[in-house]
Amino acid sequence: MSKYIIRGGESLCGELTIKGAKNSVLTLLAACVLVDGTVTLHDCPHIADVNAMCAILEKLGCRIKRDGDDVTVDGSGISSGKIPSGLASELRSSVFLLGPLLSRLKKAKVAYPGGCDIGLRPIDIHLTGLRELGVRIVEKHGYIDCDSSRARASEVMLDLPSVGATENLMMTCVFLDGTSVIRNCAKEPEIVDLQNFLNAMGAKVSGAGTGVIRVNGVKRLFGVEYTPIPDRIVAGTYLIGAAMCGGELTLNNVNPEHISSLIAKLPKSTCKITCARDKINIICKGRCESIPKVETTYYPGFPTDLQTQILTLQTVSDGTSVIVENIFETRFKTVPQLLKMGADVTVNGRTAVVRGVPCLTGAEVCATDLRGGASLVLAGMCAQGETVVDNVFHIDRGYENLAEILPSLGVKIKRI
Ligand code: UD1
Repeated sequence: MSKYIIRGGESLCGELTIKGAKNSVLTLLAACVLVDGTVTLHDCPHIADVNAMCAILEKLGCRIKRDGDDVTVDGSGISSGKIPSGLASELRSSVFLLGPLLSRLKKAKVAYPGGCDIGLRPIDIHLTGLRELGVRIVEKHGYIDCDSSRARASEVMLDLPSVGATENLMMTCVFLDGTSVIRNCAKEPEIVDLQNFLNAMGAKVSGAGTGVIRVNGVKRLFGVEYTPIPDRIVAGTYLIGAAMCGGELTLNNVNPEHISSLIAKLPKSTCKITCARDKINIICKGRCESIPKVETTYYPGFPTDLQTQILTLQTVSDGTSVIVENIFETRFKTVPQLLKMGADVTVNGRTAVVRGVPCLTGAEVCATDLRGGASLVLAGMCAQGETVVDNVFHIDRGYENLAEILPSLGVKIKRI
């Protein structure tokens, strides 16, 4: 099992180019199943979740070629609509394959999905939506067995604007004759990216980024080359790292608008941020003031995927901060690890009160989920002494090898 060993106290200086967004790439890979041809996705990060999705696609009969940051998927040989439990439990996004498989084969059987252990993460909204489209679903023996031979274009109203359910339903509707309407859908940039990708392949989807998406059914889709949006969460993680450690960082290939909720929160007195169209420069000096309140919500609000990182920044900021987690119920699981490093945090249900301390101290800590694991690396980078972060496999799901990237920014980190 790999560990990161970090010697804290260096500032973060240099330039970094952000790769495609994990959460887009995973969905776009799933969408490749819709095409009886070849799709090339550029800028794909080298992360475990992308490898896991590629392994699932291969199991279904797709041919995958990886060439640097390009992933090419040839879906012409798809033969099976069944995703076995071993693979599905590695990756929650495997549930996003339900929609594309149903569109392509009319049948799909997916084991209950895995992914980060950050709460209940039910899939009832996905299944209710599919049923409203006329998909017949039987849930038994840990599998969801679906048949869409009688599905038809309809109106679907989501109980909550779930990202995954919105994406799944968009992909289910692509070939349904007539116009389908998805109401109360998610507005995240990854949804807009999926719409652009589907339309590039010949689909007729509109409304992504608003609360109502319309899909006009088409007969077939065609192979394309496509570059997914940059990873706003990875970019945000590095900006927070700069705020914690000080220094000057330039991020290339970012969309500042996608993380405007983070940029608005970072204290202006210590973090000078300059944005261009696809570039962000941050210069940080001195200890940040605490942010009085951060509350996670749906896009364009503050993302739950940056909550642990901003909480970690608050542990060393000057003052008291209240963090409210509204999306995933157990997303404070990293707090006990931060306490080991000298942080002062009290958690009560969905609220954490963080009283900033002048500095953290190195300790042996353990990643319990993807974003929490990255936050422990940030904590180690600004702590006094040595920090060992165990269970790095959680971090590998969404961040390219940090022991290769961070040293180029001045961080003393190695992987053992
Ligand atoms: C996606 C992202 C994840 C991000 C999350 C919220 C991917 C691969 N993952 O996850 O990184 O943290 O969006 O921005 O894109 N819910 C239900 N029933 C459902 C589905 C969801 O109750 O059927 C609830 C969830 O428990 C949660 C909320 O809806 O409280 C939002 O979840 P959702 O938007 O579906 O997240 P994911 O698509 O799983």
